[in-house]
Amino acid sequence: MVELLPSILSADFARLADEVHAAERGGGTTVHVDVMDGHFVPNITLGPPVVQSLRKHTSLPLDCHLMIENPDDFIPAFAEAGADWISVHYEACRHLHRTIQLIESHGMKPGVVLNPATPVDFLIPVLPMLHHVLIMSVNPGFGGQRFIPYALTKIRQLREMRASMGLTYKIEVDGGVAHDTIAQVVEAGAELLVAGSAVFGQGHAERDGRKLLEAARNAELRLA
Ligand code: DX5
Ligand code: ZN
Repeated sequence: MVELLPSILSADFARLADEVHAAERGGGTTVHVDVMDGHFVPNITLGPPVVQSLRKHTSLPLDCHLMIENPDDFIPAFAEAGADWISVHYEACRHLHRTIQLIESHGMKPGVVLNPATPVDFLIPVLPMLHHVLIMSVNPGFGGQRFIPYALTKIRQLREMRASMGLTYKIEVDGGVAHDTIAQVVEAGAELLVAGSAVFGQGHAERDGRKLLEAARNAELRLA
């Protein structure tokens, strides 16, 4: 069953707990937390202290998407802060296998993220270790960008690889997921649907999250 992961990047940070609660009422089941360092991506957001504060206000899993250089240096601090899932970028990890082991050793669920220009084949050696694979459907760094259609091909490839390799990782998609694109990503095989501006952009996270999830569920029903 598809799930909605509200991305707080587009929320009102001064009212973060309220925003997360509204998105949860709208059907969000995991909170997507975008961590940016101004080096790996041209933007800066938040770090472990905000995760620690969020942890006190929601029981939903916190899915931390690390868009940072040297993620190994920060993985213990995110674990300490209460993160549940950690995804690291393939492009930021020199020793990806070791980084995945580090995430696991801190009791968190590991995921790897691929930028739009990175092929899914690069993940074959580590796929059996992953809880999720995150396909970027925009170049990371900002909310509200246009969906890059080639992401659909990568989602389909990941679905086929999962079946042929007998694996269980979830397929997550992030970037430009909104009313006009959500049916396509569901049809391609994505299960974890990250949405920032489509949920929080109008200041009605409950209403807009619910509508978006409904569109995703309808697309899923048509597949069945
Ligand atoms: C972008 C972030 C996304 C962002 C998506 O680098 O990883 O999670 O919040 O925003 P929308 O849904 O507005 O494209
Ligand atoms: Zn993200």
